[in-house]
Amino acid sequence: MNRRKFIKNTLITAAGAIVLGAAAGCTSNKITKGDKKMKILVITGSPRKNGNSNTLADNFIKGAQEAGHTVVRFDSAFKNVHPCVACNKCGMNGQCVFKDDFEFVKENIIDADTVIFATPMYYFGISAQIKAVIDRFYAINEQIHIPKKAVLIMTYADTSATKAQPIISHYETMLNYLGWSNAGQIIAPGVWMEGAVNSTQYPQKAYELGKNI
Ligand SMILES: Cc1cc2nc3c(=O)[nH]c(=O)nc-3n(C[C@H](O)[C@H](O)[C@H](O)COP(=O)(O)O)c2cc1C
Repeated sequence: MNRRKFIKNTLITAAGAIVLGAAAGCTSNKITKGDKKMKILVITGSPRKNGNSNTLADNFIKGAQEAGHTVVRFDSAFKNVHPCVACNKCGMNGQCVFKDDFEFVKENIIDADTVIFATPMYYFGISAQIKAVIDRFYAINEQIHIPKKAVLIMTYADTSATKAQPIISHYETMLNYLGWSNAGQIIAPGVWMEGAVNSTQYPQKAYELGKNI
């Protein structure tokens, strides 16, 4: 796909997501059950090893592994992933000029059945660490436009549900563009300090989502 098509598709899918999001109230939390053993790629975005989003990712992974799925994990905050510099040398389907830890994501995302995005909220968006990884999808854009399932795990300090909407909307718009389907969202508000999520229902919810994915 060339850049003009990318921009056109992006505008169409964004408009579609706004309409769908409004209709559904952006509260989709569907769990799809199946017998198939899947390969699951978990991409985390928090620099807090024992932080809230990593704790939820851990619980999700525990459930998924117990269900027999293969899980590979990429902790963006502890990896070297250079931000995309828009040189377009990859042509949206080729070798990136940066040979760094993104190679691991590239090797594991193409044949992954499901991709999990686990991030803290930073200034009403996803963390810079996970965003750098997502932006590098640009170089493998063609190869990841195949049906996959995805899950959003997100933690934040505020208690207002509306504050979560920009991140949910970004996630849904991206899925719509890639042709992926939402397999569940664990959105945990009101957790500020590292470990705060442990005294909520969300670790159990993440575990159950992993077990039933
Ligand atoms: C740089 C930074 C920006 C943040 N921005 C927000 C924000 O906009 N809204 C919010 O509710 N919490 C915000 N927080 C709080 C985190 O989202 C919250 O502590 C979250 O649970 C952290 O997840 P983690 O433990 O997985 O890193 C911010 C925290 C940091 C460090």
